[in-house]
Amino acid sequence: MSGLAAVSNKSEQLKMTDCQGDGAGDMTPMDLYEKLTSQGETVRTLKTEKAAKADIDAAVQLLLKLKVDYKQVTGQDYKTGCPPSESAISQDNGPAAAADGDDMVDPWNVSTSSAKGVDYDKLIVRFGSSKIDQELVDRIESVSGQKAHRFLRRGIFFSHRDMHQVLDAYEKNKSFYLYTGRGPSSEAMHVGHLIPFIFTKWLQDTFDIPLVIQLTDDEKYLWKDLSLEDCHRYAVENAKDIIACGFNVNKTFIFSDLDYMGASPDFYRNVVKIQKHVTFNQVKGIFGFGDSDCIGKIAFPAIQAAPSFSNSFPQIFKGRKDVQCLIPCAIDQDPYFRMTRDVAPRIGYPKPALLHSTFFPALQGAQTKMSASDANSSIFLTDTPKQIKNKVNKHAFSGGKDTVEEHRKYGGNPDVDVSFMYLTFFLEDDEQLEKIRQDYASGALLTGELKKSLIETLQPIITAHQERRKQVTEETVKQFMTPRPLDFNF
Ligand code: TYM
Repeated sequence: MSGLAAVSNKSEQLKMTDCQGDGAGDMTPMDLYEKLTSQGETVRTLKTEKAAKADIDAAVQLLLKLKVDYKQVTGQDYKTGCPPSESAISQDNGPAAAADGDDMVDPWNVSTSSAKGVDYDKLIVRFGSSKIDQELVDRIESVSGQKAHRFLRRGIFFSHRDMHQVLDAYEKNKSFYLYTGRGPSSEAMHVGHLIPFIFTKWLQDTFDIPLVIQLTDDEKYLWKDLSLEDCHRYAVENAKDIIACGFNVNKTFIFSDLDYMGASPDFYRNVVKIQKHVTFNQVKGIFGFGDSDCIGKIAFPAIQAAPSFSNSFPQIFKGRKDVQCLIPCAIDQDPYFRMTRDVAPRIGYPKPALLHSTFFPALQGAQTKMSASDANSSIFLTDTPKQIKNKVNKHAFSGGKDTVEEHRKYGGNPDVDVSFMYLTFFLEDDEQLEKIRQDYASGALLTGELKKSLIETLQPIITAHQERRKQVTEETVKQFMTPRPLDFNF
């Protein structure tokens, strides 16, 4: 094929795929910028090679149209060699490391200078998601016929993308599936990691739908100083904790990326499709990758995106690509799914919907999330009742006053008190929780007494988890992790 023929083919392709229908459509500013640059080159080549006037005119027309689209999407004029600035990046594809004042939230860091924790209302605006308001909570109750989970009643799951759409479809008997995951970086998970899994179990029981759980052992190998063998072993160990949350084996598929990527051509095909439609510039903008990051990291987001599409699991969905996915996770994972939602319509798939949770705070205070890499900040699922008691008594940041007299006089501050925050996650009884809040704020309840309530709430929950985990055999793990049909007809 001559250079000219190739150019005019490319120009034709651009016309067919990108510029029909609603113009800029779902293209991001970076996509548009790249199309513009390439179309500019096409026009130059056509002119240099003295192509037919009609071909040149068509190519110029397309170039002008792309310029108009670019201005519309970014509010900026296109300039060769000047990619769109960050402020021009569309909401669904914005940079992950959202730093607002002092708040920082991305898949690897969560920090704020406020003792009350991250300002989640601002995060909703910055990430372009929607608040889970009372109307949505009521609707979930009426559609499911179940009382809303305490995480919904108390705003712990606080943000969503397209949840109304999921419910609209469900009301018309269109089912959906759940997808969540875990990056197995160590053998022991902490209590914070349980939050999305506890909620996912409630969603699965409430809506009676399939669930896929991705264990990103590949991700942890790429990011941490760990061997592949260790990451895979941690995946299996973490699967035991996840299974101990009570998931139904006939409705749940858990997979390690290191195993499933090689075993499922359909999964890998989706990974490659996603990789083709996301540029290095885009992942740089979303995840902050730099030139010295290994190429495995740069390609990884496509692997976390792929389970959002039902045809990645032909054994469950019989090859259907249109089954809606709903992803429960803490909001730190949203950057992956902003990218996924951006790419979905361009490869012919529905965008996944999301439910985002706040962070279970570190013992030392809500300035950061509980993190496995800081042992003192965390209560682990392997901790004994005595360790739980000691950690809470020694490390849990208190909103109480310095002396009993002052506390009785002025009261404590439940908004910054970590023990109270933990109770909002784990104490089921709304009235009891409200009484504790009022008594602490009035000074009737002392810090030691509040901590005692928390210890007595957490100890049996963790012990019961450990008992259930003991029942999980290697055989049980194998059952959950074998690709197979689930108890659903798609
Ligand atoms: P990972 O292992 O960091 O976290 C697993 C899940 O726990 C949530 N999480 C928390 N939730 C509340 N409070 C905390 N302190 C806290 N710390 C972590 C995370 O948001 C996540 O939902 N890359 C992912 C693994 C993954 C995934 C997914 C997660 C793959 N596919 C789909 C969610 C949905 C990771 O390393 O998660």
